[in-house]
Amino acid sequence: MDSNYKHITVTPLSSSIGAEIGGVNVADELSDGAIAEIRQALLDHLVIFFRDQDLPVDRHKAFTRRFGKIFIHPNYDVGQEDNETVYLIRRPGDTSVAGEKWHADTSMMNPPPLGAILYAIEVPDYGGDTVFANQYLAYETLSEGMKTVLEPLQAIHSDIRVAGPQSNVNAKRTSQVRDDADWRETVTAHPVVRTHPETGRKHLFVNPVYTLRLDGMTEAESAPILDYLYEHQHRPEFTCRFSWRPGSIAFWDNRCSIHLAIHDNPDSSRHMQRTQIAG
Ligand code: SIN
Repeated sequence: MDSNYKHITVTPLSSSIGAEIGGVNVADELSDGAIAEIRQALLDHLVIFFRDQDLPVDRHKAFTRRFGKIFIHPNYDVGQEDNETVYLIRRPGDTSVAGEKWHADTSMMNPPPLGAILYAIEVPDYGGDTVFANQYLAYETLSEGMKTVLEPLQAIHSDIRVAGPQSNVNAKRTSQVRDDADWRETVTAHPVVRTHPETGRKHLFVNPVYTLRLDGMTEAESAPILDYLYEHQHRPEFTCRFSWRPGSIAFWDNRCSIHLAIHDNPDSSRHMQRTQIAG
């Protein structure tokens, strides 16, 4: 356990990413000191986990606002009353789940969201874990030659594969995204190597869901470099795996980590409540 904290306990889950936070009820009005320590733990560990929480949606949003403005997800904004909260639901028979491939959330946004806070309402007895990977390490473990090649490059990020009528995702799963004719693709170029605005550390910023190609190159020309990075960026030693229980929370820094929801135990149900923090 890390003894530098006064308001919370912080127990790392692996040497590269992830720590479990204890000593707080996230639903309470937390002191500025406790929030500052939670933020520090997030910067230090990239994803932090809380167990045995009771987080009604109003308290979930109140906790989220202590870290910034709530991000409205453009593709889950489907006319519901509360567009600040997204429910990620899997039901038996779904052949796909939201987030099942490695990604940073909504990386086609400029700026990308700071992070996300995911709360488990219903989870299977086994399966349905989430895996996270540290993108500082993904960058730092590249050769100096590869770092030099990547340094000036920008990558094009788009939501064309995950929303809109052409994406064909709604037929496979309970969690629905916008697929109406008025939907428009969001596209942004981001540096392949970004500098984290709070820690000042460099990290890789590409992912196989939102990144389409390198700027100024075709998809075929970009593929050898991007495919290499997509394999490299989730080496086991960069990761941790979180097994959910009802009442668990994962809070990740979306700028310097990637994650995926494991789509196993397909006959089970899983119901998650998520907010995101604007970048
Ligand atoms: C996500 O990609 O934001 C969802 C992760 C999960 O459901 O485990």
